[in-house]
Amino acid sequence: MIQTTGTDTTTTTVIDPTADRALKARHRAMWALGDYPAVAIDVIPELGPALVAATGVRAGDRVLDVAAGTGNAAVPAALAGADVVASDLTPELFAAGREFAARHGVTVAFEEGDAEALPYADDSFDVVLSCVGVMFAPHHERTADELLRVCRPGGRIGLLSWTPTGFVGEMFRTMKPYAPPPPAGAQPPPLWGDEDHVRALLGDRVTDVVARRQTLTTDRFPTPGAWREYWKGVYGPTIAVYRHIGGDPAEVEALDRDLTDLAVRYDRGTGSTVLDWEYLLFTARKQG
Ligand SMILES: C[S@@+](CC[C@H](N)C(=O)[O-])C[C@H]1O[C@@H](n2cnc3c(N)ncnc32)[C@H](O)[C@@H]1O
Repeated sequence: MIQTTGTDTTTTTVIDPTADRALKARHRAMWALGDYPAVAIDVIPELGPALVAATGVRAGDRVLDVAAGTGNAAVPAALAGADVVASDLTPELFAAGREFAARHGVTVAFEEGDAEALPYADDSFDVVLSCVGVMFAPHHERTADELLRVCRPGGRIGLLSWTPTGFVGEMFRTMKPYAPPPPAGAQPPPLWGDEDHVRALLGDRVTDVVARRQTLTTDRFPTPGAWREYWKGVYGPTIAVYRHIGGDPAEVEALDRDLTDLAVRYDRGTGSTVLDWEYLLFTARKQG
């Protein structure tokens, strides 16, 4: 249950805590489905290092990776010499994250937390970043407020998000007709990949904004159908949609076809499939 109250100049969103806890429990269960650690390692491993480099993480920085998953950004930040906390809604991912950190010879503190209510004091971190992470928290203003709250004045914010018009944004649009209706007040994840949206969320609380669209290229799938089958087995949001329509073979067949068609449209490979996945890389400094 979400309620919006406001005057001519201000709007306050009131979110029912019981409904919100239930929603977050569903999100946690969804991200624990399948094999997200495989996605991070096999498909998008270059994104964490790209975000850490763009945000200028340095030795000695105290860094918070929000919605960190298995530490795709947290581990490269630790390799840069930072003192890193990896926070996520889904502690089921932390064992894989700790193994990933250990393989690289670094220590990262994995801690459970909701991006919309971060369990940290104001101004605690020099750098706050998130790699295709906070985009999945449903209330964007609340999330943006939290990122800024825990970052110290003059500290840096770095956000990497799938764009609405790129492959992953289109994948979410493709799945939408097959998914249950989103809860009232929840905003679509790929909006975080829209530069204007992120600028509006952070407003004049940040300076030195740099936003650029880049692409991740994956060539690990022999065919569009192979991508779809892999994705159906590992990626929580896709698995959840298939579970929702699981009792209806015609719907399953239609979603199979729509996802394959999406990958066919994007495939620029010859011989094997090559897909470009567009993301927005957004960095800024919190007002000092
Ligand atoms: C696509 S994964 C990205 C994980 C990691 N940052 C990476 O680059 O591999 C999205 C992550 O967001 C987390 N997440 C979703 N909603 C969240 C919330 N409200 N607060 C914190 N984490 C959340 C999920 O548990 C999941 O680990």
